[in-house]
Amino acid sequence: MRTPLVAGNWKMYGSRERNAALIRDLILGLENGAAAEVLVCPPFIFLHEIGRNLGGQKIRLGAQNASAEDEGAFTGEVSAPMLRDVGCSHAIVGHSERRILFREDDRLIARKFVAVQRAGLTPVLCVGESLEEREAGRTASVIDGQLGAVLDVAGVAAFHDAVVAYEPVWAIGTGRTASPDQAQETHAHIRGMIASRDAKIADSIRLLYGGSVKAANATELFAMPDVDGGLVGGASLEAGEFLRIIEAAA
Ligand code: 13P
Repeated sequence: MRTPLVAGNWKMYGSRERNAALIRDLILGLENGAAAEVLVCPPFIFLHEIGRNLGGQKIRLGAQNASAEDEGAFTGEVSAPMLRDVGCSHAIVGHSERRILFREDDRLIARKFVAVQRAGLTPVLCVGESLEEREAGRTASVIDGQLGAVLDVAGVAAFHDAVVAYEPVWAIGTGRTASPDQAQETHAHIRGMIASRDAKIADSIRLLYGGSVKAANATELFAMPDVDGGLVGGASLEAGEFLRIIEAAA
């Protein structure tokens, strides 16, 4: 039985004041426990302070990105050991905004995945096709390329402690969600691809869906057999909405 995971990717939003209110409301809302694990991924600059506020709480802390290098002359980068040092347990790698806007390729993303694990963090690897790729019937082959690149570099055993998030690019921030059947079809494909290398790991790994997840559509998405939770963008910035999504996963 896979414990559901609901992760909030705050992207480049927040301020110390807004974050404090959001975290306070989440802690209050989760006071009586949740049947899902909860992760928040604020911008780098806020991680340390939020990590301190989360001390002793059940909410886990993740970064939105990490360097492929542990240290060195890499101006502007933040390494996985640094993220661990400020209390992160997870780091997102390969988000489509990193792939598209910052030209991160599969090779770099695979190296980031390995660096994150080397530091003792759990990578949340994002994969997903564009609208053009879906319409050309290339969804499965795009996923195969993105996931295969990391499987080849890191090895399937590394997925024992990893999360994969399926985030169709056309559903991110667009208000257009994959239907539960579309999500299930791709999640089953991802699990099958991992199973072809290691059935046990495939069975236990959590696969999150991301792309316009809201309280109103979370229940039907999370009800699909291969959807083990969500990676939530916009809706994770509002405590009430995010709490309802967490409830939907339980
Ligand atoms: P939205 O939930 O805002 O569509 O964002 C999804 C996402 O990119 C999470 O990583």
